Amino acid sequence: MTGTTASQASRASTDGQEEARVGSSPAASELLLPVAPPSSVLVVGTGLMGTSVGLALRARGVQVWLSDIDQGRVETAMDIGAGEQWVSEVVDHVVLAIPGAAVAHEMLRLLPAQPTASFSDIAAVKSSVQRDIETLGGPLDRFVGGHPMAGRELEGPEHADAELFVGRPWALCATSSTTPTSLAATRAVVQLCGAVPVFINAERHDASVALLSHLPQLTASALSALAVPVADAELRLAGQGWRDMTRIADSPADLWAGIVVSNAAALRAPLTALIARLHAVLQELPPSARELLEPPVVTPLASSPLDLETQQGLLREHVLALVAAGNSGRRRLPDKDAAAGRWDRVLAVVADRPGELARLLLAAGAAGVNVEDLHVEHQASHRTGEVTLYVQEGAGVPLGLALQAQGWRCRVEPGARGPRSLAVDGPVALGGAESSAG
Ligand SMILES: NC(=O)c1ccc[n+]([C@@H]2O[C@H](COP(=O)([O-])OP(=O)(O)OC[C@H]3O[C@@H](n4cnc5c(N)ncnc54)[C@H](O)[C@@H]3O)[C@@H](O)[C@H]2O)c1
Repeated sequence: MTGTTASQASRASTDGQEEARVGSSPAASELLLPVAPPSSVLVVGTGLMGTSVGLALRARGVQVWLSDIDQGRVETAMDIGAGEQWVSEVVDHVVLAIPGAAVAHEMLRLLPAQPTASFSDIAAVKSSVQRDIETLGGPLDRFVGGHPMAGRELEGPEHADAELFVGRPWALCATSSTTPTSLAATRAVVQLCGAVPVFINAERHDASVALLSHLPQLTASALSALAVPVADAELRLAGQGWRDMTRIADSPADLWAGIVVSNAAALRAPLTALIARLHAVLQELPPSARELLEPPVVTPLASSPLDLETQQGLLREHVLALVAAGNSGRRRLPDKDAAAGRWDRVLAVVADRPGELARLLLAAGAAGVNVEDLHVEHQASHRTGEVTLYVQEGAGVPLGLALQAQGWRCRVEPGARGPRSLAVDGPVALGGAESSAG
């Protein structure tokens, strides 16, 4: 791949995972630079994501130091083995696992203590972070924006998971001045976490996630919000299509308000395109005799031009209200989804080959556990998938242990909306026992 400038390219990296490159990526041609992976990493922000990074790196023998504005979170992360308390140790690389708006300030604050380290972050929107560092005069040559396409709807170190990133794409956005050494170090961190690097520039990343992640969230929330005034009797007719389309409307409003505000410019085009498509259908619809729904009252924005801060404040309020209404709509769904809140989830990594799913289900049957539902998520860039088995509350941990004993790599989340998750780590089944189910 040295010297490649193709707009879309991919290749197998040294560990067999398929790296991808979208667009011309600064310094990408230097990626074969023989740079040793960082042997020490400081993780700033010991929430769900930062603690998961710490656990993953520790498992690969990296010295991990931890820091957070909330000391209680550092202690929880240390208790579960994600690393040690950072005091002033000099490291090779710093992962800023904190909200995007805080990344630039935190990087600058750490520079005197970390004179040579490269830095990366994991926030969901990339251009605004790069802009903030530039505005504050930070060293963009030592920075690579990152965004793991993995996560959970839960927050805090107690939900962290060393396997969270396995096989997942992890966007890497080098700046125009990022050094090859910084890029290689960040890429090594990503690979040590088990993720698959995708090299893309920040603008294209933000446009992509606006279409592929942020627009679906707003759409799901808006759809789910429409269920709020619908009578119970009618909601009983909600089928799998409605449930699938609104699943992500359970997400937290505060998180999404922040994401939408920081990626507002990139969202305009896909949102306009979606509305135009729906509007074309609307125009051809005859008036109906009896409407199930009144159109929602949407407060118009002020007609006079607004300063940026006021505009962002209004956008934030609208998104908060929309996502909260979507949460309410989901809570109104009858039976199955209410029961789903009480199910344990067992998430297992399966190899993408014939018979693996059957082998997993047979193992669950042999453990005497009834699988209520299941969901398969494929990783196109990696020859694995993640299967979520939904089982009765209380059955998740015994099933996880039984699967682990047979060599499956899995983790258990007691109660889909329950208070804690429990990692049940075991040797991965990818090259393991032959399938008995063909
Ligand atoms: N949760 C997900 O599914 C997901 C997925 C991809 C990316 N992300 C990104 O990962 C980052 C962390 O998210 P999370 O889910 O772990 O959130 P979280 O709330 O679980 O953890 C964030 C942690 O950062 C700490 N923090 C905040 N500001 C800080 C500062 N200035 N200095 C030190 N610590 C600070 C908080 O105390 C908290 O412990 C965010 O940028 C988020 O957008 C999250």
